[in-house]
Amino acid sequence: MVGSNALGVISNIELLLSSLSEMEKLAAKLAVHLKAGDLITLRGDLGAGKSALSRAIIRSMMGNQNTEVPSPTFTLLQEYDTPKGLRIHHGDLYRLSDSSELFELGLEEGRFTAVTLIEWPEKLPQSWLVNALDIAMEIMPELDENLENYRKLIVTIPPERPELADVFDMWGQ
Ligand SMILES: Nc1ncnc2c1ncn2[C@@H]1O[C@H](COP(=O)(O)OP(=O)(O)OP(=O)(O)O)[C@@H](O)[C@H]1O
Ligand SMILES: [Mg+2]
Repeated sequence: MVGSNALGVISNIELLLSSLSEMEKLAAKLAVHLKAGDLITLRGDLGAGKSALSRAIIRSMMGNQNTEVPSPTFTLLQEYDTPKGLRIHHGDLYRLSDSSELFELGLEEGRFTAVTLIEWPEKLPQSWLVNALDIAMEIMPELDENLENYRKLIVTIPPERPELADVFDMWGQ
């Protein structure tokens, strides 16, 4: 359920996905709504699926399931230009030493001109986080082999983009 509290903050939406292909379907639904200035922050442990979800979103936006989407673990930032003229910035801040590097990488410049996907967003300034579509993912339960492809997602919708809630609210219906 989505609702707003007195501060106008939209509550979290929780989803359970049973496979990577479900994650890819969700990514395709989300991708069509994304526009310049959107920021998606992706949280979760190593192997949770932050890069997998980013890859699926980027491939959908590129309209090409064969687009090479390497993890930005070492480059910190990968950039894409979609056929519709959108720029995508895909960053991984795990190895970022301090937030001045956000500027050097061009992430700051792209904040309002690109669609920005950020893995390990803990090093982002608070002012960025308030307007982010935040997706926290969890492998569940880790030790049960039958459930190894399940992921729990907790999605926080940014106050400026309440319509994005529909993508997640309608999931599975
Ligand atoms: N439902 C699922 N959603 C996403 N990934 C899944 C799912 N089920 C299995 N996987 C697998 O889990 C792995 C997720 O790896 P990925 O590189 O996306 O993790 P990550 O969160 O980006 O880790 P890191 O912190 O190292 O960047 C992939 O091998 C993917 O195929
Ligand atoms: Mg990753």
